[in-house]
Amino acid sequence: MPSLVIVGAQWGDEAKGKMIDVLGGDASYVVRWSGGNNAGHTVIIGDQTFKFQLIPAGILHPGTVSIIGGGMVVCPKHLIEEIDRTREQRAELGELIVSPAAHVVFPYHRLLDALEEEARGENKIGTTSRGIGPAYTDKVSRIGIRMGEFVDPDIFAKRLRDVLAVKNRLLRMFDHAEIEFDALHAEYAAYAEKIRPYVKDAESRLFSAYQAGERILFEGAQGTFLDLDHGTYPYVTSSHPIAGGACLGTGLGPRHIDRVLGVAKAYTTRVGEGPFPTELNDSIGQAIRDAGHEYGTVTGRPRRCGWLDLVALRHSAAINSLSGWVMTRLDVLSGLEEIRVATAYKLPSGETKSLPGSMAEWAQAEPVYQTFKGWSGNLRPCRQWDELPAEARTFLEFVAEETGVPIAVVSVGPDRAETIIVRPDALWG
Ligand code: IMP
Repeated sequence: MPSLVIVGAQWGDEAKGKMIDVLGGDASYVVRWSGGNNAGHTVIIGDQTFKFQLIPAGILHPGTVSIIGGGMVVCPKHLIEEIDRTREQRAELGELIVSPAAHVVFPYHRLLDALEEEARGENKIGTTSRGIGPAYTDKVSRIGIRMGEFVDPDIFAKRLRDVLAVKNRLLRMFDHAEIEFDALHAEYAAYAEKIRPYVKDAESRLFSAYQAGERILFEGAQGTFLDLDHGTYPYVTSSHPIAGGACLGTGLGPRHIDRVLGVAKAYTTRVGEGPFPTELNDSIGQAIRDAGHEYGTVTGRPRRCGWLDLVALRHSAAINSLSGWVMTRLDVLSGLEEIRVATAYKLPSGETKSLPGSMAEWAQAEPVYQTFKGWSGNLRPCRQWDELPAEARTFLEFVAEETGVPIAVVSVGPDRAETIIVRPDALWG
């Protein structure tokens, strides 16, 4: 069973980075397949905190190869800063490979992200302003610049000149000053020099690794309901965070994905706009935000907080073909008298256990809750399933039963060690 996908089962920020770090030591390859530096993965090892936005968290394991997959969009300036910062923090790192198919994010993408959001007015998406949407738009419009072209000085200069002519027209439409070619080219050609050694044929290397039986860990970014096709459109990101995206964004085919673990918080959070039926705009929501330090790693925005939503998780289990759950941040719920879980939605047309089909329906969805007795005490020292309070186990067993997916791992704190492996057989097999 050499390949394992870790996918965000909610709206992102499910603490996937920690799981990648926990499992990364057992993997030969850790691969990201979608998004860019809109993601933020935090790994805490002892008294050191590492923050990753582009580099797979597997880089912290010296024997592991980390791949920035072809489905990603990469800001070169940010990548170089991240490489330098991580090197300063830790001398021994694994190898890093950047796929030549990954697209490059330029300053005009960030500018257009901000200008387009402003133009949307009250319909804004609440993007991370990292230029992610405009970079993927260029990819689909077939005018994006890929890493393979970026690190070839002659091709890069020509491509940038051509694309910039188009972008400057757009900037003029927004009454914005044009971007001057020479300065942009000089700055980015210098980044390309630094990144060139990392740009290698990631796709064939990965396929050979799979054939050789090496363990491959796919590191999801964002979350299922931010998927361009399967999320709460239009309040989504512009890529494919669902498990199927791992094939698209790395070139490894569907028969080569062996296991899929869905990472979900014991409650729900969301940043940016869009539907969120179990959102709590009250003191409990604030208590969860405070206890869980629920503020965005990338933008610092307060995250919207609410109860666990099993209508969403059932859907997530199905479309990601989950083989197990990684339930995270269980410790955050300690001390609440009661804990609620949505099992269905009430719509004007009646009660449903399925996701609404349109934005209008999403807006009307009222959660139907099942209430559980809470628990108290510090869960962080727990290392075994039996050490968890009985109430917490009842809550988790209900999640497994309702979704038809077993609990494989429980995370009770941010540190690597604060993890309960419930079903070792659900990991690599
Ligand atoms: P974009 O990806 O910057 O275009 O933002 C689109 C939507 O996805 C916004 O609601 C963002 O807040 C959300 N989003 C993007 N990346 C993440 C993430 O890593 N975690 C949580 N939300 C995200």
